[in-house]
Amino acid sequence: MRVFIALDLPKDIKSILFNLGREIKSRYPFIKPVPEGNLHITLRFLGEISEEKCEILKENLRDLGKSFPLKLSKVGGFPTEMGARVIWVGFEESKELTELSFKVDTIVDSLGFPKRDKPFVPHITLARTEKPVNVENFKVKNLTFFAKEVAIYQSILAKPNAIYKSLKVIHLEGD
Ligand code: 2AM
Repeated sequence: MRVFIALDLPKDIKSILFNLGREIKSRYPFIKPVPEGNLHITLRFLGEISEEKCEILKENLRDLGKSFPLKLSKVGGFPTEMGARVIWVGFEESKELTELSFKVDTIVDSLGFPKRDKPFVPHITLARTEKPVNVENFKVKNLTFFAKEVAIYQSILAKPNAIYKSLKVIHLEGD
């Protein structure tokens, strides 16, 4: 099964971000927005793992600390803002988010999963496109929300969009 660990977003933030994706689509109609319900912050992508390993992950991924605020800051692009094939929204620097990512990595690494291959770049993917677009002039409202839940998701590859099935939710304390 294909698995990843993500930080969930409040419903109102997902709705605002989905609308921003729609605004970008009105300029670049060929982009493929992520469905509203699928918007999230990936903390660690595990790829294909066995059901047995997934059970071990579910048992061990816990005690991830306290709920904390995140502030939306910018619209960015991978590989670049001028030629984005992944269009995303980023956050103001957050020590708590870096610490959460570190906690998740420490648990995942201790269970013998392959080490992450890229550094953690916190983002919410809004849309993907084969044809690169320029997102330099798009802005996001600098809204603050509370990160309250981390979840283990199974990603079922499907057309037109992947289906994300929640396998376990870890509530951050203080919510
Ligand atoms: P993305 O948001 O940057 O596209 C489920 O596929 C989630 O895992 C996506 O949010 C995706 O991040 C993330 N992910 C990270 N590495 C991945 C990889 N090698 N293949 C697919 N998804 C990956």
